[in-house]
Formats: sequence, structure tokens, C-alpha cells
Amino acid sequence: MDLYEYQARSLYPKYGIPTTDAVVVGSVEEAVDAAIKLGPGPTVIKAQVTVGGRGKAGGVRVAPDAGAARVAAEAIMGMTIKGHTVRRLMVARAVDIAAEYYASLVLDRANRGYLALVSAQGGIDIETLAAERRDALVRAEIDPLAGLDAAKANALVASAHFAPAVAGQVAEVLVKLWDLMRGEDATLVEVNPLALTGDGRLMALDAKITLDDNAAFRHPGHGEFADTEDMGVLEAKAKAAGLGYVKLDGQVGVIGNGAGLVMATLDVVAGAGEKHGGVRPANFLDIGGGASAEVMADGLGIILGDPQVRSVLVNVFGGITACDEVARGIVVAVGLLGPAADKPIVVRLDGNAVDAGRAILAEADLPQVEMASAMDDAADLAAQLASV
Ligand SMILES: Nc1ncnc2c1ncn2[C@@H]1O[C@H](COP(=O)(O)OP(=O)(O)OP(=O)(O)O)[C@@H](O)[C@H]1O
Ligand SMILES: [Mg+2]
Repeated sequence: MDLYEYQARSLYPKYGIPTTDAVVVGSVEEAVDAAIKLGPGPTVIKAQVTVGGRGKAGGVRVAPDAGAARVAAEAIMGMTIKGHTVRRLMVARAVDIAAEYYASLVLDRANRGYLALVSAQGGIDIETLAAERRDALVRAEIDPLAGLDAAKANALVASAHFAPAVAGQVAEVLVKLWDLMRGEDATLVEVNPLALTGDGRLMALDAKITLDDNAAFRHPGHGEFADTEDMGVLEAKAKAAGLGYVKLDGQVGVIGNGAGLVMATLDVVAGAGEKHGGVRPANFLDIGGGASAEVMADGLGIILGDPQVRSVLVNVFGGITACDEVARGIVVAVGLLGPAADKPIVVRLDGNAVDAGRAILAEADLPQVEMASAMDDAADLAAQLASV
């Protein structure tokens, strides 16, 4: 999960990483209030989006007073940066910057470790730095078991040629960033700029953090970072039900058990769709292994709630998942949804408890449900039903 800057920087105090005071707001009026409350002196108004390059896009502006803060907030609120609409602003106290540095820690999957990147030449984006001043960007591998200790941080800072007056402070911040990375289970922690103020203090003026979703269970507090606003209604529902759902833009709803089977089903549906007016899969939805009737019903409910869906293909190969549970889930969902379940549902069941599953569907005799025995036939039928 990519955090917004205001969320990422909220993790700084716990690790003693120095930054400026800031407030996140959702309107221009609130931005002006925040600028006034931060006290006299300039503020920075910053677009809150989870993509980089905000500064270049005009999404970061320094405002000398409250009037200028209003002008900046009006300009930034609602603007689009790389397809992301700005709905929130961060109003931060502006500092007098003497120098800008770069520091990041990133999970390095290929080497089964982490990588630290630092540069004494900040102020430009990292891609440009890496391309044009390669030697100015110093990298060091971090052994995940040994971590980044003071000695290693000092060595890294020395090889990046920081001025002696700041080297110690930079090394200290690096160790704290590492503590944050491990403590929060992040896969990326990037500070650009890490700034030196006119009065010689080091401050993290930006925060880009990606959290490892697989470690979410260790961090109940991270739940509040979930961006349900940017998520569609269906995605939010699926997440709440614990389902792996991705909205696509086609017309055939797809449900299966196991990510591999679902992906294969998407391919087969797309292939079959070519013969039926070019219909495409409407989503990815994996009900997982050992899914209960309830999970199946939740999944079907979400897909039928997608107005773009014209037919549904349920493709289950029963292993841990039993086909009779899946069949019960279909019957329950259709019963619960009533008239809302008016789209054709093609069901292909195979494997564990397939006979029991088919018997349940045959007995329920739901008018919208059609059975198919092979995956190709099922996809063809679902595509055909979506094309009419
Ligand atoms: N609190 C601050 N006080 C003074 N100047 C600031 C402050 N915050 C940011 N700036 C200036 O604005 C520039 C851009 O800010 P920032 O790094 O947050 O955005 P960005 O790098 O353009 O966006 P992104 O990090 O999303 O690519 C900084 O390099 C710095 O010069
Ligand atoms: Mg930045």
C-alpha cells in the first residue's frame, strides 16, 4: 500500500525523524485556517496524491502569508496529477533550506535484502539523479538480519561525501529510517528532500512510504491508512468481505477459486469474447481455497452489483473448496438478491463434491443459472450471453 505523504510522515515521530509541523486539510478554507494556525511565516501547500512529481506538476507551492496560501490552495485543490485528483492538501511550515539531500531504503527482492541509496545532491528527482549523476548516488546493500547500524550508516555517508558538519546527522537519520522500515514493515521509505536548514538542522521534508500488505496483520494501526475513497464501491465491499477483487472494464463477471484458475478463466473468456462481439471479462475475483457458501454469496453479490456486468461465469475446480458449498452459495446469493440477480449465471463445477454441487443447483432450478461441464464451453456460453 502506497501511503500519502501526510500518512507517511505521521510515522516519523515514533522513530524520532525530524520534520516540520503540518496539517492535512480537505478544503481551501481549511487550508487558510491551517496556515494561520501554523503561525506567522511562510507555509508550503502540498498536493496529497500517491504519485511522484508533484512539484513539477505545480502541486507544491510556498506561500509567504495566509493570502498566498489561499491562492496556492485554490490552484492545487482539484488539479489532476498523473491521473490522480487532488482532494486533500498538506499545509506545512516552510523552512529555510540551505541544502537538499536524498535518502531512501528499498526492499531488494532480487538480492533478498534491502538497498540504501543516498545522495548529497538532492533537489532533483531520483530518476534524473540516477541517470545524470550516477556517481553522486551512493548505494549499499543491507543485510536484513544485520540491519543498518551506525557504523554502516557512517560509512555510507562518508562515501557519499556529505560535508563533515552534517555527516553525523545524516547517518543518524538513516538509522532511524531503517528502524521505521523494519518497525512498520515497509518496502520503500524515501525522503526527497532530506533538507539542511539555514540554522544547521536536518529535516525530512517529504515522505514516501510503501507498506508491505502481507505484514498488515502485524499492524492493526495501519488499517486507517486504507484509501477507501479512491477505491470503488465494489472494491471496498470486496475488501471488507476479504475477497481478492479487481475491477476490469468488460461485461462478463468472473468468479473462481485460486488466483491461477481465475487468471486462466479471464484469458479464456477474453478469447471466447472475440467470437461474440468482443466482450471482455468484467473483473477478477478469487474466492480462495475452502470458501464457504457465505463467501461465494458475497462474491456473487459484488459481481452482480456491477452495472457493467451482463453475464457471470462461476468457474470452480473443487479441491479444498467443495462444489456443494459453492452451489449453496449461489442459491443463497440468488435468494438474497431477489430481482437484483437478473443476469445469466453460467456455472462450471468440477472436482471435490461436484455431484452434490450439481444436484443442489438442479434441485434449486434457478431460471438464470446454466450449467456447463467444461471451462471452454462455459466461457463461450457466458460470452455469448453477455453479447446479446
Ligand atoms: N516544508 C518545506 N519548506 C520549504 N520548502 C519545502 C518544504 N517542503 C517542500 N519544499 C520544497 O518543495 C520541493 C518539492 O517538495 P516535495 O519533495 O515534497 O515534492 P516533490 O518531490 O516535487 O514531489 P514528489 O516527492 O511527490 O515527487 C522540495 O524539493 C523543497 O525544495
Ligand atoms: Mg519529494
